Amino acid sequence: EPPLTVRSLSEAIGRPAKQILGILFKRGEMLTINSLLHEETALELSLELGVDLKIVKPKDVEDELQEYIDLPDDPSVLENRPPIITILGHVDHGKTTLVDKLRSANVAASEHGGITQHIAAYQVTKNGQKLTFVDTPGHAAFGEMRARGANVTDIVVLVVAANDGVMPQTVECIAHAKAAGVPLVVALNKVDLPDRNEQRVLQELAAQNVLAAEWGGDTEVVRTSGLTGEGLDELLETLLLTAELNEFKANSQRPATGACLEAFRDEGRGPLAWLIVQKGTLRRGDVVLCGQAYGKVRSIFNEHQQELDEAPPSTPVMLAGLDIVPAPGDKFVVLDDLDLAREIAERRRMAGRQVSLSSRGGKRTLEDILNA
Ligand code: GTP
Ligand code: MG
Repeated sequence: EPPLTVRSLSEAIGRPAKQILGILFKRGEMLTINSLLHEETALELSLELGVDLKIVKPKDVEDELQEYIDLPDDPSVLENRPPIITILGHVDHGKTTLVDKLRSANVAASEHGGITQHIAAYQVTKNGQKLTFVDTPGHAAFGEMRARGANVTDIVVLVVAANDGVMPQTVECIAHAKAAGVPLVVALNKVDLPDRNEQRVLQELAAQNVLAAEWGGDTEVVRTSGLTGEGLDELLETLLLTAELNEFKANSQRPATGACLEAFRDEGRGPLAWLIVQKGTLRRGDVVLCGQAYGKVRSIFNEHQQELDEAPPSTPVMLAGLDIVPAPGDKFVVLDDLDLAREIAERRRMAGRQVSLSSRGGKRTLEDILNA
């Protein structure tokens, strides 16, 4: 960014510097040709000289990146992609059991033994179509990801235990789904229990403005049991139907963008990040910038620890090759230049450090700064 001086103003508006200095002198300001000018002063001076000056600031690299991520695709290149589904619900209503059942029905027998790492997301195939499930640790994380601008969910499955009904966190989950503007499918769960009360639950849902389709509303309610597996096929079919109605599409032909679901450091493999590809196709060898981390993609794995050559939209992958561990909710983008990725990542780290220093307040010692 060139500094705004008497000289650069003179060059920009095509008037002699002497003339500008003259006006300033009359105002009682003794400046030289190299003196810095305030933007406002420069605008006033130009006005006085009858020139319409516009001060154009170079676009922030972060804005440019966001623009690149948001770049709309030609509708003709869009293809269907699997829906990305998040399961939310009150504590103990059976989310984990349901998810485990959905997965175990689908996990290939050849899954690499021994490695039982936490899976942040996985895909299920039904009728030859894929569905992607994101395993967020709860509605708080869901809200936080959204607050950070990482909107990865297309459909929310709200798990409500048929014996317990709508509970405080159920209400919060409904609010989150509504704020995200995504369709909601209810899994009326634990229907194997004798003390279930389905009509009461439907009523409690209606009181939260979630009206079941069977009551004339537009929310599909599927009876499920994570214990017996009842209703899981129907749940998947309902989700596929919901996806069909909403037409989730993406361009797979562009460099990949998406978000980090979670990340950790592995002793042998270094930083590992669970990413979900939202647009484009991620490939081995790509240069990835993810939050403050960057690097060349060394390998990408699916949830079965199988190595992939490429990952199209809606694929969750575990990526090795970043230099540090990114944060959940960090967006990632593929760039064509490793130096650029490094530069942006380093700038972000500097900015992050300044924020943490200035937010600490009070007096800082040298030690504070070195340890920041
Ligand atoms: P948090 O992760 O703590 O929020 O709980 P959760 O929603 O993941 O519930 P989880 O799957 O851990 O199940 C809680 C309890 O309910 C466990 O004891 C399960 O065995 C039981 N449970 C889950 N699903 C069913 C079901 O469909 N029927 C019955 N009878 N019990 C279930
Ligand atoms: Mg759980």
